[in-house]
Amino acid sequence: MFKENILSGKRILVTGGGTGLGKEMASEYARLGAQVYICGRRKSVLDDTVQEIVGAGGEAKAYSCDIRVADAVDEMIDQIWLDGGPLTGLVNNAAGNFISPTKDLSIRGFDAISNIVLRGSFQVTHACGKRWIDEKISASVISILTTWVWNGGPYTVPSAMSKAGVNIMTKSLAAEWGKYGIRLNAISPGPFPTKGAWERLNPNQSTAETDSYSAIPMGRNGEMSELRNLATFLMADGCEYLTGQNIAIDGAAHLATGGNFFPSLDSLSDETWDEIREMIRSSNDADKANRSV
Ligand code: HXC
Ligand code: NAP
Repeated sequence: MFKENILSGKRILVTGGGTGLGKEMASEYARLGAQVYICGRRKSVLDDTVQEIVGAGGEAKAYSCDIRVADAVDEMIDQIWLDGGPLTGLVNNAAGNFISPTKDLSIRGFDAISNIVLRGSFQVTHACGKRWIDEKISASVISILTTWVWNGGPYTVPSAMSKAGVNIMTKSLAAEWGKYGIRLNAISPGPFPTKGAWERLNPNQSTAETDSYSAIPMGRNGEMSELRNLATFLMADGCEYLTGQNIAIDGAAHLATGGNFFPSLDSLSDETWDEIREMIRSSNDADKANRSV
């Protein structure tokens, strides 16, 4: 879809770029000529992704960084600037999520999600933005949201609230930072199955594929290539006047049927929720065992 090397000269950080959608976008940016940085809490996972990107002829480096920790974010951004100059792009992709009846959430459960999505996305955007403004650098920020920012996310309330906050950050800073040549846009994907998301959002396959397809007018999940193309379009030169927008890529699911998990989760019994909680905890524990920060 794009000319080879369309991103040559770009330096882009993808948070959570070691897995899932972040890995897809980071790999595509590198394939199209960008110097790519990825961060996350599991160094071994990041290193594997860097190895794949470099093996395919791209340029990528990994940083272990927990984006919830402001000082760690600032240190990572300093190191990236020292490594080869300013970034020109940022993708706020890192996130945490799990399905739960809201009445059963503890405040720590709320914080676990909002500190990554809302606070973490702000911290990385702020750390980059203040440097771009000081150094008079134009840049592009993309935040990965969900369509729940428009109509709510029952059973995923901390995520929906936090993504809605990042949506408003996108619009607010598009206006405040437009004069500096910094643009901010967002992508709201519908279902693009990944291990990280499906272990926490569909651990017992309660959203049977055929049921979820019937909720999507196009009758299928998203293809990673479709997401990669949109993420490249928003990062490449040529549409600088496009800012402050949130683009859904969901086969019209949110327009037709809401695009959230409400119908499949609303009738689950307490026993089924107990089982789901245990399944999610064991996925969390397995991932945590690999964390280096
Ligand atoms: C209720 C739960 C819970 C669950 C955890 N908690 N899982 N509460 N139901 N299933 C509670 C814990 O009991 C604890 O509270 C608190 O949350 C913190 O738990 P930790 O395990 O200590 O959290 P932490 O190590 O900070 O890990 C964060 C995480 C984890 C969000 C819980 O899942 C994670 O690291 N996720 C990253 C990857 C991810 O989530 N990817 C999916 C993105 S998909 P107490 O009170 O007991 O101490 C997405 C949208 C997709 O965002 C949209 C699709 C359409
Ligand atoms: P994923 O593979 O679980 O990706 C989440 C990434 O964020 C992981 O690499 C994780 O790495 C990183 N991360 C989490 N907490 C972090 C922290 N505190 N500091 C640094 N990195 C952190 O899930 P995904 O499906 O690809 O999701 C990617 C993005 O797409 C998310 O924003 C999600 O909300 C959004 N999204 C996904 C879908 C979908 O269908 N998949 C739909 C809509 C929106 P570590 O655990 O190693 O830190």
